[in-house]
Amino acid sequence: MHKKPNIFITRKIPDHIVDPYKDDFNFSMWQEEKLPVPRDVLLKEVAEADGLLTMVSDPIDEEVICAGNRLKVIANFAVGYDNIDVTFAKERDIVVTNTPDVLTESTADLGFSLLMAAARRIVESAEYVKEDKWQSWAPYMFAGSDIYRKKIGIVGMGRIGQAIARRAKGFNMSIAYHNRSRHEDAERELDATYVSFEELIKASDFIVSVVPYTKETEKIFNEQTFKQMKKEAIFINISRGQVVDEEALYYALKNGDIRAAGLDVFETEPIRADHPLLTLNNAVCTPHIGSASESTRTNMLHLCMRNLKGVLLEKGAETPV
Ligand code: GLV
Repeated sequence: MHKKPNIFITRKIPDHIVDPYKDDFNFSMWQEEKLPVPRDVLLKEVAEADGLLTMVSDPIDEEVICAGNRLKVIANFAVGYDNIDVTFAKERDIVVTNTPDVLTESTADLGFSLLMAAARRIVESAEYVKEDKWQSWAPYMFAGSDIYRKKIGIVGMGRIGQAIARRAKGFNMSIAYHNRSRHEDAERELDATYVSFEELIKASDFIVSVVPYTKETEKIFNEQTFKQMKKEAIFINISRGQVVDEEALYYALKNGDIRAAGLDVFETEPIRADHPLLTLNNAVCTPHIGSASESTRTNMLHLCMRNLKGVLLEKGAETPV
């Protein structure tokens, strides 16, 4: 009888995702939900695998890919794939897939939540209540920034950037964007204006980074760009930590060069509790949960499974990168 292909899943995921595929594949799965697979286990497992289902926190570099003698597909459980050496995988005829579309709206929700939380000082003020510091209603207590009718500048006008813009339109914001290429449909549909990166940085009240991490975007938000921003500017990052110079961001927030930040991603993840950014009241930080709604995470996993099956048993991947 034909031998079933092997799939290694680098984190514990629910049985109901995997069970429907048990007639087609042999599965092996790292059994921790909260902690990543150790490198030596990954290298051992990949040697036997035809397919891998990976997390953004797994570096899939040349060494891992070379260890996968029979590897044909890497299904990344994320829309971003900077954790994978895609060029090297392609050289070895390994298909890499991601999870676009299914996470667009949830990720935009989180981006807009961070924007609102940073503007209206939600986390700081909720902690104040919990710490029993609230003495009385006061005229300027936790007075923050308005969102309605303000200027938003979106860096990276892909699907998630456009979904953020749709939310911004509901708040009557004026929308500017910067992107490698223009999106004239989005300009028409959302009244968004294409501007240079510098113009966007200087004019926006809210600057939202949705740009993928590449060599070109590394630390595009740095000391110089933070200095060019308005003093009231609020910076939101839901893309990758590596697009920001975190030390420069820390000083910009601490010195009042900008007003606040909402950050879901960091240069090194997990960010540790003694990181200077976490000492600041004007930084709202979440643990890389952009797409983390229950239904979206389930839809992403289903898409990963369809991609694995597509490459290993059918006509090909649904969402190759
Ligand atoms: C998460 O960061 C993703 O790229 O989906």
